[in-house]
Amino acid sequence: MSLPTSTLTVNGRAVEMPTKAGTIGPSVIDISKLYAQTGQFTYDPGFTSTASCESKITYIDGDEGVLLYRGYPIEQLAEHGDFLETCYLLLYGELPTAAQKADFDYRVTRHTMVHDQMNRFFQGFRRDAHPMAVMVASVGALSAFYHDSTDITDEKQRMIASMRMIAKMPTLAAMAYKYTIGQPFIYPKNDLDYTSNFLRMCFAVPCEEYQANPVLSRALDRIFILHADHEQNASTSTVRLAGSSGANPFACIAAGIACLWGPAHGGANEAALKMLAEIGTPERVSEYVAKAKDKNDPFRLMGFGHRVYKNYDPRARIMQKTTHEVLSELGIKDDPLLDVAMELEQIALKDEYFIEKKLYPNIDFYSGITLKAMGFPTSMFTVLFALARTVGWISQWAEMIEDPSQKIGRPRQLYTGAPKRDYVTMAQRG
Ligand code: CMC
Repeated sequence: MSLPTSTLTVNGRAVEMPTKAGTIGPSVIDISKLYAQTGQFTYDPGFTSTASCESKITYIDGDEGVLLYRGYPIEQLAEHGDFLETCYLLLYGELPTAAQKADFDYRVTRHTMVHDQMNRFFQGFRRDAHPMAVMVASVGALSAFYHDSTDITDEKQRMIASMRMIAKMPTLAAMAYKYTIGQPFIYPKNDLDYTSNFLRMCFAVPCEEYQANPVLSRALDRIFILHADHEQNASTSTVRLAGSSGANPFACIAAGIACLWGPAHGGANEAALKMLAEIGTPERVSEYVAKAKDKNDPFRLMGFGHRVYKNYDPRARIMQKTTHEVLSELGIKDDPLLDVAMELEQIALKDEYFIEKKLYPNIDFYSGITLKAMGFPTSMFTVLFALARTVGWISQWAEMIEDPSQKIGRPRQLYTGAPKRDYVTMAQRG
């Protein structure tokens, strides 16, 4: 569909710019020729009004609280499918047939083991290393182990690298956990489904039989689906930017993991749980809500607010239901953290400050409680997010590499430093 051009007046001169339409969502004004035409850049730190790429993978309507993977609503995928089906969908663009799904599951399963020398690589970390630090390093290190899948110009190598990362991420994540608690690594078991295998690698010990609880396994699988992709968020944009220089896929995903670690992004589930523990009892909630509203206090309610959602995060709704399922399966009736969370949500949703700023609970608000109940320590929460988001990062990276118009990402700046000045020798400096 052709749209009317947009006209921008720069220094009294009218400049025509093409407008591009997507299938749904706002259209964009193509400013790529603006500098050539006017000698001026646009300024948008934090990219609040800037589309950095064209993509067919994920769509978010933040005002309506809608999230679609390849057009399919997140609610339907989370209810009817499993995580590997979502992986297939994100990677290939369509839901798999039964035969395609069986083949995909088989291929992922056959790549779950990591090179045995990785065990020695792990021994170099301090025992108290944060598992996210271990993940950044070990995923980056995959490029030192799998030289046969780092040539990004070879489509087959790109796919092998993608399968390797989806398959090995649970193995590495479980190893990062086992290492910090001083237990032996548990090898993957290929007759288990993806998520039960991961639970087993985390919680089994060699001296006992282990059987994953199917309710917990299904709940965690759903959590993975909810986290699988989220459009051009900070870590995905990091992966795309790193990949735009031609860096190998393992290095790019390691860059994404590093970005995800921050408390404003994936680290929020860890931060949200710490905050609920700090609040401690429902009676203290109003004190913390007041702190969050105080302009002179840097405190923010972790797990609240989102750059894109200005309505209830659709993932948070599914997450809330999953939390209750998990707690009821485990027979946890009175979880003090859940009591604080429910009270906080109720107060915040009625508070003028939160209503006016459209601050709703996001996915991280409930995921921490659920993961804790399953037995994961807080330091593992963001690792689980990274595990699930890997497929999104890879799909977005592959889409970028396959785009013929792709070039290195190179933002410009508004320079506000010193103008040109002459060097002053040390003796002459005051
Ligand atoms: N608690 C209290 N006030 C808040 C919060 C919060 N959690 N979030 C935003 N605000 C206020 C903020 O002070 C600002 O007020 P004012 O306009 O008076 O200055 C206004 O709301 C807009 O905030 P912003 O920082 O300009 O919004 P943003 O789009 O840059 O930030 C955010 C989005 C997610 C970083 C932010 O809401 C936040 O820090 N939330 C807590 C951390 C969190 O839960 N992050 C997880 C995000 S979801 C998972 C993921 O994407 O990884």
